[in-house]
Amino acid sequence: GDLLISPPFPFSLLFFILEYTHSSIMVKVTVCGAAGGIGQPLSLLLKQSDVITHLSLYDIVNTPGVAADLSHINTKSKVTGHVGAAQLEEAIKDSAIVVIPAGVPRKPGMTRDDLFKINAGIVRDLAVAAAKFAPKAFMCIISNPVNSTVPIVTEVFKQFNVYDPKRIFGVTTLDIVRASTFVSGLIGAEASTLRIPVVGGHSGVTILPLLSQVAGTDKLTKEQIEQVTHRIQFGGDEVVKAKDGAGSATLSMAFAGARFALNVLEASVKGTSNIVECTYVHLDADQAGAKETKAVVGDDVEYFSVPVELGPNGVQKILPIGQINEYEKGLFAAAVPELTGNISKGSAFITEGA
Ligand code: NAD
Ligand code: LMR
Repeated sequence: GDLLISPPFPFSLLFFILEYTHSSIMVKVTVCGAAGGIGQPLSLLLKQSDVITHLSLYDIVNTPGVAADLSHINTKSKVTGHVGAAQLEEAIKDSAIVVIPAGVPRKPGMTRDDLFKINAGIVRDLAVAAAKFAPKAFMCIISNPVNSTVPIVTEVFKQFNVYDPKRIFGVTTLDIVRASTFVSGLIGAEASTLRIPVVGGHSGVTILPLLSQVAGTDKLTKEQIEQVTHRIQFGGDEVVKAKDGAGSATLSMAFAGARFALNVLEASVKGTSNIVECTYVHLDADQAGAKETKAVVGDDVEYFSVPVELGPNGVQKILPIGQINEYEKGLFAAAVPELTGNISKGSAFITEGA
């Protein structure tokens, strides 16, 4: 008689267990540079998530205040603040995602590469802590110059034997967000749903919008295409100039950074499929999409922002960059020398201490 349990019972038990396990999953997210211009609004946006259970805020100043403030918001996550190197371990330990907008921003007249001197060391130290205390974390790197800071994180993770190319991302989402905004007006599309692939790197000419792949851009003149391409490539300068010495994009970056981090969580924690974001990653030799990209840009280019399908382990699949026209081929040719220079500078900072 014991075997004749009615079918609904074990099923409901199973659902209960699944539901219970799901709701008890710990999802800790650490923001490094959380008291900064990007860090604060980014943390606010992440506090709205019902996937994150622990929002850990790290900076060298002011995180107790930011954490106390955010902790009064009645959403799911617990918020903790950690200040200074002595508290970095507890801040970062066992995080599912580490988002890094730490470091100095540009002032008018500076390039992103001018930030290397200060930011390279900051990103290295944060990467060392992550490699030691959260080696499985998805690393989302916002600090500039992104073209170089991502190779820095890679080389640190290699030194600690915890390197996985599928888990280290340069956040270039702001370029995609800008492209949607700037192009939507020209072609009469809805900005919030218009998706424009932007590949390459994250600085000036290394930013490569693939407008020829977007329906409706065939109606634009050559001049319009050139102007809007330039605006996407140098959108950061517009904000730096308008802020007039008070920094660079923070609010639009927080929006873009939250979108990216939450999509990484959506794909990994929730297992949602078909989430695609362009992001600056290592062109992993095992990936067919990476091979196709290298066939276009050359074997020397080790990192590139490419459309990536996100999954439970980060990069699920590097998607092909697709068809590019003659104008875009010219943009690619102009991007490669600057990009390869930025990449080797970042790698050498760790491998040669230079
Ligand atoms: P900010 O100066 O307002 O904030 C930076 C924060 O980093 C500060 O709170 C500072 O105390 C903190 N910090 C400094 N050293 C640290 C360390 N060792 N550990 C932890 N935190 C540390 O600058 P911001 O406007 O928020 O910009 C931050 C970075 O993001 C800059 O490098 C900027 O160029 C970059 N950025 C990138 C993008 C992108 O698209 N990827 C967009 C905008 C800005
Ligand atoms: C941006 O694109 O807004 C950021 O990279 C910040 C900057 O220096 O322009």
